[in-house]
This record gives sequence, C-alpha cells and structure tokens, in this order.
Amino acid sequence: MMKSRKGIILAGGNGTRLAPLTNAISKQLMPIYDKPMIYYPICTLMLAGIKEINLVVSYDYLDFFRKLLGDGSKWGIKIFYTKQFAPNGLTEGIILSEEFLDCAPAALILGDNLFHGSSLMKHLNSGNSRINGATIFAYRVKDPQNYGVIDFDNEGKVLSIQEKPKLPKTNYAATGLYFYDKNVVEKAKSVKISQNGELEITSLNQIYLEENALNVELMGRGMAWLDTGTHDSLHKASSFIRTLEDRQGLKVSCPEEIAWRKKWINDDQLRELAKPLMKSGYGNYLLNLIKNQSIDNLFI
Ligand code: G1P
Repeated sequence: MMKSRKGIILAGGNGTRLAPLTNAISKQLMPIYDKPMIYYPICTLMLAGIKEINLVVSYDYLDFFRKLLGDGSKWGIKIFYTKQFAPNGLTEGIILSEEFLDCAPAALILGDNLFHGSSLMKHLNSGNSRINGATIFAYRVKDPQNYGVIDFDNEGKVLSIQEKPKLPKTNYAATGLYFYDKNVVEKAKSVKISQNGELEITSLNQIYLEENALNVELMGRGMAWLDTGTHDSLHKASSFIRTLEDRQGLKVSCPEEIAWRKKWINDDQLRELAKPLMKSGYGNYLLNLIKNQSIDNLFI
C-alpha cells in the first residue's frame, strides 16, 4: 500500500543575513506580523492535508520550537523534531529525516517561505497527486540571481535548474516548496557537496531532472510567494499579512483555524486553544470562527 505523504520543514541555518535579530533566536521563530514565521509553512503543509511533519531545526533552538508547537496534537497533527548541527545545506535535512519518512513520499517546505493565494490549493493538489518524480514551483521574481533559477520550455518541460547563477537564464525562481517521491532519501544521499560547501536542494532537483522526473508548475501573478531572509523582505512580508488581514478580518495561515475547518479539532478544542490567547485578539478571532460559521464558511 502507498504510504501517505509526510511533511518536512527545514528550519535550520543560522539566519546570518538577519543579524543581529537572529543572534539569540532562530529566524523561523521571529514574527511575521501576528504569528511566528514557522506557522506559515506549517499551514501550507496542513492545507495540503499533511498530518505528520518533521521539523529540522538548529540544535540550539529545539526547545523553543517544542515550547511553541509541542507534539502538534493541539492542532490535530503530529510534529516530530530533528536537530541539525551545522548548516550543511537543505538536502542534509532530507537525509536527516530518513527514519521519519520511512519510505513515504515527502512534501518539503523551507521554514522561511510564505505562500498565499487562491490558486494555492490547486498547486498543492497537483504536487500531491504525482506519485513518481518531483514537483517544483516556478515564480517570477525581479532578482532571480538570489534563488534557484528554472529554465523551461512552452510545454512546461524543465530544461535546467541552477543555484543562484550570476547570469540567470530566466526570471523564474524555484520556490521553497517541493514534492518528492519515496526515493528522495536515496537520491539525496547521492548529492555531492557544492562549491559553497553545502548539499544544495538544487543538486537534488538536478538528479530528478537527469532522470526526466522533474515537473515544474508555474505559480502565476495572483499568487504571493514571499521569502523572509533579509530585513526588508521580513518587513514586507509582515506588512503584506497585516494589510490583507486588516482588510478582510480573516487571518492568513492560522493553524488553529485550518485544523478546525478540516475537522481535525472540534469546537471545544478550538475554544480551549483560544483561552490563553484572549489578550492579543488572536483568541477572539478563534472564538468568532465558531460564532460566525454559518455565514462565513469559506475555506481559506
Ligand atoms: C534556497 C534554495 C533556492 C531557492 C530558495 C527559495 O535558497 O537553495 O534554490 O530558490 O531557497 O527560498 P536560500 O534562500 O536558502 O539561500
């Protein structure tokens, strides 16, 4: 029987581009407006229907993540933790997740990536539905040299993927969301260390490409893909969430809400979660979900 897909969130790394903010705290615990950054990738995986998630974190911060998230049961999911001892690259995080994956297919997301948009579910479903090979997502950016860059033809066939090239072939960055088949650990183990001294995720995707098993989906202009690696991008991501939430009165990437809408937790459990959050307004938001459910039953 096919095992269900499991999620991996890579939240190691030193966050040196955000110093001194990150001198004493993990980047992925810092706020994006009203929530810790790590809530956003967790929500993306929850929206994909994934209920078992392994968090790969720097060994320094494991206790902080555990304090925030626990074992995931409060949100009807299971969260596991793996320590990463040095920033050896994203692919190392997959190898470290071998026992957790136990030959299941994987959805991998970077702990500092934020996705929002009405076509997100479509993209998640199509990544989820492919049993063989890998799926990556291309998103137009004005500074492709800071990302993995994908070149593809009119039929969506990937021609090349290069990590932070000086002369990018296109404006399409590879986002930090990847769907892999059950062979991902075996392939990850064959990745060679790059010139940067890291096991790059792009090298893993190149292996899938060589085997003609790398699919790319274009995330269109209506989608927001934000990364949060610099002071400016962090600030912009917070402003984006604040603007949207203030306008609609709906939260973006609220794990309690997603768990409740998916019926992974019931009304009473949501009420319990709201209790310690009443002073920040977050708790009231959760209680109002129950109150307004008959008129407000959108799935976001
Ligand atoms: C990583 C990947 C890169 C990808 C990016 C997306 O880069 O190596 O291919 O485009 O994430 O956020 P990093 O931001 O870790 O340097």
